[in-house]
Amino acid sequence: MMRLDKFLCELNTGSRSQVKAYVRQGMVTINGNPATSSDQKIDELSDEILFRGKRLQYQRFVYYMLNKPAGVVSASRDDTQRTVVSLLGKNAREDLFPVGRLDKDVTGFLLLTNDGELAHRLLSPKRHVDKIYRAVLEHALTPEDIRSLESGLDIGEERPTLPAKVTVLEKEVILLTLREGKFHQVKRMLQAVGNRVTALQRIAFGGLCLDPCLQPGEYRELTGQELDILRKAPAD
Ligand code: URA
Repeated sequence: MMRLDKFLCELNTGSRSQVKAYVRQGMVTINGNPATSSDQKIDELSDEILFRGKRLQYQRFVYYMLNKPAGVVSASRDDTQRTVVSLLGKNAREDLFPVGRLDKDVTGFLLLTNDGELAHRLLSPKRHVDKIYRAVLEHALTPEDIRSLESGLDIGEERPTLPAKVTVLEKEVILLTLREGKFHQVKRMLQAVGNRVTALQRIAFGGLCLDPCLQPGEYRELTGQELDILRKAPAD
């Protein structure tokens, strides 16, 4: 159950005050009867809510691809810093969270959802979901560095990193494909071969590429096809 005004706002029919006015003007019906008040409770999954005669369909789960800008923390809420969820605006659903984390200075693909089960599967260390990073380095990699990154490195964890894939794009720019997601993993792997990451962007996650139309800070819903790809991301 939820309040009618919250439901209408989440479905982007208008702001809180607009929604109140729509209800007063009789533009909203619930199971065939005009809504009486914007704070009345509705069952978002089974009640038939019409706005200007059109059925509003509540989505239980939502999925967004965000192009995370630098300077924003990968969290739902934070007392002092801007969060990735706040980039979706104040009408965004309150149960949204980022699937995994990118460091504050790291940019690129971040999935935001309220589907805890899918998030759990994508983040499970047992499933090796691919993540592709574009890293700008302090200096070029040697063939020996590439061999080390690709075969697995000691970064101070219990086990060495899983084999990764390196693609050299320019002298100091690489793509690094990882199948795991340890804390600061890209930076620590490059540090382990005596290098330093000066800029880092995630360009793909779980078989999906960052949409090049999304400017930093912009987001869009995943398509059904993209969601199918994510759902098929490697099993245990
Ligand atoms: N590796 C890092 O070092 N930082 C990130 O945010 C993601 C991967």
